[in-house]
Amino acid sequence: MATEGGKETYVEDEGAAGPNGAGAVKAKPPFKQRAKRHCLRFWWLWFIIFAIVVLVIVLPIVYVAYPNKAQKQINKAQLVPQSMSLLDPAPDSFDLQLDDMFQSKSSMTARLDAFTADLQLPGAHVPFVRIDVPAIKAANGSVAHVHQRVQIANTDQFDQYTKTVLLSDEYSIYLKGKGGLKYGSLPKTTVKYNKKITIKGLNGLKGLTLTDFAILTTTQADGANANGTVTIPNPSIATYQLGNVSLAMSVAGLPVGTATLPDVLLKPGNNSFPMRAITNQTAVVDLIFTNYKSGILPIDIVGNTSVYAGKHLPYYEQALQANNVTIRLDVIKALEDAGLAQYLGINTTSTG
Ligand SMILES: *[C@@H]1O[C@H](CO)[C@@H](O)[C@H](O)[C@H]1NC(C)=O
Ligand SMILES: *[C@@H]1O[C@H](CO)[C@@H](O)[C@H](O)[C@H]1NC(C)=O
Ligand SMILES: *[C@@H]1O[C@H](CO)[C@@H](O)[C@H](O)[C@H]1NC(C)=O
Ligand SMILES: *[C@@H]1O[C@H](CO)[C@@H](O)[C@H](O)[C@H]1NC(C)=O
Ligand SMILES: *[C@@H]1O[C@H](CO)[C@@H](O)[C@H](O)[C@H]1NC(C)=O
Ligand SMILES: *[C@@H]1O[C@H](CO)[C@@H](O)[C@H](O)[C@H]1NC(C)=O
Ligand SMILES: *[C@@H]1O[C@H](CO)[C@@H](O)[C@H](O)[C@H]1NC(C)=O
Ligand SMILES: *[C@@H]1O[C@H](CO)[C@@H](O)[C@H](O)[C@H]1NC(C)=O
Repeated sequence: MATEGGKETYVEDEGAAGPNGAGAVKAKPPFKQRAKRHCLRFWWLWFIIFAIVVLVIVLPIVYVAYPNKAQKQINKAQLVPQSMSLLDPAPDSFDLQLDDMFQSKSSMTARLDAFTADLQLPGAHVPFVRIDVPAIKAANGSVAHVHQRVQIANTDQFDQYTKTVLLSDEYSIYLKGKGGLKYGSLPKTTVKYNKKITIKGLNGLKGLTLTDFAILTTTQADGANANGTVTIPNPSIATYQLGNVSLAMSVAGLPVGTATLPDVLLKPGNNSFPMRAITNQTAVVDLIFTNYKSGILPIDIVGNTSVYAGKHLPYYEQALQANNVTIRLDVIKALEDAGLAQYLGINTTSTG
């Protein structure tokens, strides 16, 4: 009953205070005056309570919710490589040029500090290389440009990486690290990066072709007795400098020669290189008189060496040695073109 009465009085007072403020002060019950005095006397207490409430709400936002949100946005964002080049290779290092696009559905724009990133293969515990990622303004579509000399951090892992690149249609690596993130005027927070990056590989050099194959009848300074044009498709966005590449050729396990491609710079798209070969003509002629009377030889091409500036690049060599491409080569046509068919007694009417 008492509360009901009090409530009614309070409502009446509020109504009176609207149009006539002076009258309302007079009409205030002793309780309100006491409360006001209390408030004035203990204003500092109320201020402290207010401050604590504000801190209890604001601090978790600034120091817990905001870093969590920043981390979530980083986790959700994607890194999409736009272009990549591994140039001027040495046995322990290479020049890396990498343009990585930051893609995010969020409209939040943050500043990301430069940081050192570990690049790792899935399931690996150590990186194959470490790169310096520059500071960027991370909004959807911003691009981080990396351009540096990279030291190979772990040769076993890097060997596995180059093999994966050469043999895979598509592969993934992880970019790991941590760095500062600043959003507006909020304090800097540290975010962790653990980004899976999926890139197209070289797909085992599938689609490699040998055209303009010719048998050289005159003596050549380098000992070559055949030449032609090798075209290698590179379906990826990356450029690889392999230097002078040598290839081993065989037919059903029987070695038939070696070929060299000078200064191989494998750019995205189709790449053509002049090929020079030293073939074992005895072995080739034996094959077309026995198992391959059609004159079309299925030649297995396996990479052997990759030499840049006089130095072998073991990480490319072991990858090339693991890759096998088979081409079909019309040897009789080449023999005819060279004017050699008649000397070998090849009847092109019956064999062709
Ligand atoms: C982010 O940027 C990419 C590439 O520019 C674009 O395709 C995509 O639509 C953008 N997404 C949003 C949410 O803006
Ligand atoms: C092969 O060598 C011959 C003679 O040196 C040359 O005329 C021809 O252009 C060469 N072919 C290719 C594809 O390099
Ligand atoms: C591969 O290269 C090495 C070193 O140059 C050479 O000794 C070897 O005979 C080559 N192998 C083939 C199959 O050509
Ligand atoms: C590469 O060459 C192949 C065969 O000639 C062709 O089908 C393909 O479209 C070419 N690719 C590019 C990117 O030019
Ligand atoms: C060429 O091939 C023949 C027949 O397979 C073989 O006997 C000979 O040793 C080979 N020559 C060279 C130089 O490899
Ligand atoms: C490739 O070999 C040729 C001839 O031996 C040499 O002049 C050239 O410098 C080599 N290229 C590279 C990239 O090592
Ligand atoms: C290359 O592949 C073919 C067919 O898959 C196989 O018969 C041949 O032995 C392989 N050659 C090498 C050198 O690995
Ligand atoms: C080549 O073979 C065809 C069909 O077997 C035969 O008619 C022709 O006389 C042969 N030519 C020579 C030059 O041996």
